[in-house]
Amino acid sequence: MGYKICIIGSGYVGLTMAACFASRGIKVTCVDIDKERIEKIKKGEPPIHEPGLKEILAKVTSDGRLKVTEDYAEGMKDTEFSFICVGTPSKPDGSIDLSYVTSAAEAVGKNLHLASKNHLVVVKSTVVPGTTSRIVAPILESSSGMKIGRDFGLVFNPEFLREGSAVEDTFHPDRIIIGEHDEGSGKKLLALYKEFYNNLLPPYIITNTVNAELIKYANNAFLATKISFINEIANICQRIPGADVETIAKGIGLDKRIGPLFLKAGLGYAGPCLPKDLSALISHAQSLGYDPLLLRAVQHTNENQPYQAVLIAKNLLSTLKGKRVALLGLAFKPNTDDVRCAISLKLIDRLLKEGAQVVVFDPKGLENAKKLLGDTVLYADSAIECIKDADCCIIVTEWDEFKKLRPEDFVKFMRSPIVIDGRRVYDPKEFGNKLTYAAIGYCPS
Ligand code: UGA
Repeated sequence: MGYKICIIGSGYVGLTMAACFASRGIKVTCVDIDKERIEKIKKGEPPIHEPGLKEILAKVTSDGRLKVTEDYAEGMKDTEFSFICVGTPSKPDGSIDLSYVTSAAEAVGKNLHLASKNHLVVVKSTVVPGTTSRIVAPILESSSGMKIGRDFGLVFNPEFLREGSAVEDTFHPDRIIIGEHDEGSGKKLLALYKEFYNNLLPPYIITNTVNAELIKYANNAFLATKISFINEIANICQRIPGADVETIAKGIGLDKRIGPLFLKAGLGYAGPCLPKDLSALISHAQSLGYDPLLLRAVQHTNENQPYQAVLIAKNLLSTLKGKRVALLGLAFKPNTDDVRCAISLKLIDRLLKEGAQVVVFDPKGLENAKKLLGDTVLYADSAIECIKDADCCIIVTEWDEFKKLRPEDFVKFMRSPIVIDGRRVYDPKEFGNKLTYAAIGYCPS
């Protein structure tokens, strides 16, 4: 493949895309402002934990197909495409902070003269409807002195990859959505994807920029809605003897109109995407004079969901004061070391306020969690060490290694074997027969 592309921002989206594209022969240069990150990537070491990424990155950096720099001029030189993959965090009021996107757009514009003719700028960062055409486009034109549609093109192309399966999702996406600002730009990006996916090109839609921007938000809002919905049903189940949300989810999931995925009840959705995107969509709708009641309820349900585990613990132990509570899982989901907006953090905060002593373990997330939690909690080196002498254990993240623990392990090592299964990883019958077992969405008959 003869393409040469520049990827700005080497987080989950940018770096995974860069490595996967380079692995199929596309020449990629990543541009990032974080020196530490750059040094790691240069050595072929991913700064994030993402299954499969390490192997690909080591290969493409050693054979020179992927380069990384701080310098936009070096990154953009002779490239046909530049992808803006920088973060769009939330402001304290929940609205979107576009500062990284605007500064990346400015820098791309300034260096556009170095790129190849008819260059295409692709915004991949999640942005609220109107951003690409009304904010990014004018910045690009004024900083480059060039005209969109005549000298270069602009599209918005959202990503749908999940942390923990980002590589797999990059190679096998469900669909490609392209919002074109100027006619013909969509087809240009599609040509790159056709080369990349060859005969495995997924279904695609080429539309305008606002639709593409809204598709991304609607997608994550729908996923969040599904989760809050099943969590609400779980909370009802917990109050009906004999009810189990896992069976309810299976039953409704067989309805083709509902489908089985994203119906896993638990302690709520978390991470850097779903909560932030829902807040941004709510705030954007409100700025347009519309109050999105349903989305606000989804958010509200999710905010309370982690505390269901605290309620159960309090009911079982009568007080949490002075009790040793073991948390298995810190990462916001399995197969990642990401603890941003993780449920574990909310739980720890509440448990400490209740006077509990908290001991934690996570197979990958310990280092990131330590940066946020400091010495407020005790850190264990293994799951067994974590549950040792504990009065209660809460399963917060469904890592495979926690699923392997047997009731006998809890009985042997805990001071009082009470397990609160916040992610529904254990069989209630097997555990319920051997120890005190409580779970989200489960009420024994
Ligand atoms: C999410 C979307 O799934 C991606 O499509 C999207 O690209 C990404 O956000 C993004 O906007 O960048 P991600 O945040 O990596 O991806 O994680 P998910 O797999 O969606 O999980 C989000 C949260 O929902 C996790 O806390 C997970 O534990 C929870 N969840 C998920 C449930 O509680 N129940 C479920 O059935 C599924």
